[in-house]
Amino acid sequence: MVFSPAGVASALLFVAPYTPNIATIETTPGCLTDNFYGTYGGRSIFHIPPTCLETSFIKGSSIQSVSLLPYVANGERQLVWLQESAIDSTLVTPEYEAEVQDFFRWLGEDGYSMGGGQQLSGHQHLLSSADEPGVELHLVNLQQAGGSHGLIAVEPSLVPSIEALLPRYWKPYILPKQPTSYIPVPKPAIEHVKNLLETVRFDPVVSSLVNNISLSQMRDDIRWLTGEDGKSGIVSRHSFAEGSRVAANWLKERFEETGASCELKTFLTGFAPNVACKYSASVDTTSTVLISGHYDSRGSFGSQRAPGGNDDGSGTVALLGIAHVIAHSSLTFRSNVELVAFAGEEQGLYGSKAYAREMREKDANITLMIQADMLGYHAPGEPPQLGLPMYIGTPEVAQLVSRMSAIYSPELTVGYTAACCSDHQSFHEQGYASTQVFERAGPIADPMYHNSGDLSERPGYDLSQIRSIAKVQFATLLHAAGFDLPDDEDLN
Ligand SMILES: *[C@@H]1O[C@H](CO)[C@@H](O)[C@H](O)[C@H]1NC(C)=O
Ligand SMILES: *[C@@H]1O[C@H](CO)[C@@H](O)[C@H](O)[C@H]1NC(C)=O
Ligand SMILES: [Zn+2]
Repeated sequence: MVFSPAGVASALLFVAPYTPNIATIETTPGCLTDNFYGTYGGRSIFHIPPTCLETSFIKGSSIQSVSLLPYVANGERQLVWLQESAIDSTLVTPEYEAEVQDFFRWLGEDGYSMGGGQQLSGHQHLLSSADEPGVELHLVNLQQAGGSHGLIAVEPSLVPSIEALLPRYWKPYILPKQPTSYIPVPKPAIEHVKNLLETVRFDPVVSSLVNNISLSQMRDDIRWLTGEDGKSGIVSRHSFAEGSRVAANWLKERFEETGASCELKTFLTGFAPNVACKYSASVDTTSTVLISGHYDSRGSFGSQRAPGGNDDGSGTVALLGIAHVIAHSSLTFRSNVELVAFAGEEQGLYGSKAYAREMREKDANITLMIQADMLGYHAPGEPPQLGLPMYIGTPEVAQLVSRMSAIYSPELTVGYTAACCSDHQSFHEQGYASTQVFERAGPIADPMYHNSGDLSERPGYDLSQIRSIAKVQFATLLHAAGFDLPDDEDLN
């Protein structure tokens, strides 16, 4: 795509295809890396100042320019990236297509481009909906080519609930109010991961520990979280629902029973809190290994129910399964370990963004972060799998996880997935080495994705796959953090 700076206003957004290290595509240092709005799906967004436009500032990569509306620049509107998840063709039903068309219609008849790749510079619309008083969307650009995505500018107070307006497989990602500096994962941090990758060998004690993750415990826990067992009374774990607070308190108690010290950390009024749990280090008290999932969920449009059995009850019970083994084996970690269940993921990674930002402000040394999001489903007939992110995350961490899988969960078929953008993204953009573990070496195929029928008892929901992936997450944690067992239990 040809970029022509002729006649452009001073305030411009640039949308470039995903590049693992932004610094490698800029010709003028700082033009991209000092004006970064983040990476969303397969795109990175920048706000380029006029001084950069006078020179060539990017090499290779094709780039799309979008006018930045004055009311975005002065804070009256908040930019939100809308991303359609990478979904299997089996999920593209006529109902879903109708939902997407309705949404586009609601945005405005000509407010988007169905064509692939043409430049939409200056394409701006002011839209409002009579059905939703007070809701108005300022569309900057919405393009349906190559995995649909779009960028909208919204009145700030509407942003936290924007998810409720989107078609079922679309998710919102909130851009920062101002562009920031791109924070790469520092070279020494990547070296640390590479070193682990090169030196890791099968350890019989690790094997015994990870194999002690209890399937029946995980079944009990997921049935409680979804409300399927009738004991919790939870109808929904949507971030704004009462059930998410019930779940948060319950998770805190369960993790604390395993010897962790936990905090319910509120990050934004109205949202259920993050549940952050720590096991203190015995040796290296300055570095931390963090594993996580998100316990909030999303249901079908118009339904109160959001059981989130797979998304992301599965990642949450994986954490609990790991915590139970930590307790039963009385192991101690050499470096700090954190198990975190985030909230606000579905509304735009709110919980993890706040958490990762706080860690960066404290200059916390998080050496590794692994998010588990959707571990439970594979299409009937498919083998159990482990999917690693194609785009967002640290490739070396994904390689380490893949190696751990080969050693400790050889039953899993490992591959890459275009499904992306869970809470590890928040850590990655703060310069922490991170990745995600996912249920499939391919796009999302779970027919109950973002659906009120996302229960644990249904065809394709495979608890033993959740356990296999939890083994990988736990083994990586054990090798990365280092651990000791009480003498009489040490198999070495
Ligand atoms: C972070 O911790 C790791 C592991 O202990 C260590 O090798 C590294 O030097 C630390 N990094 C910083 C910036 O302190
Ligand atoms: C795994 O569980 C078994 C049975 O409870 C126990 O004997 C064994 O010590 C456990 N392994 C570790 C490493 O704790
Ligand atoms: Zn999720």
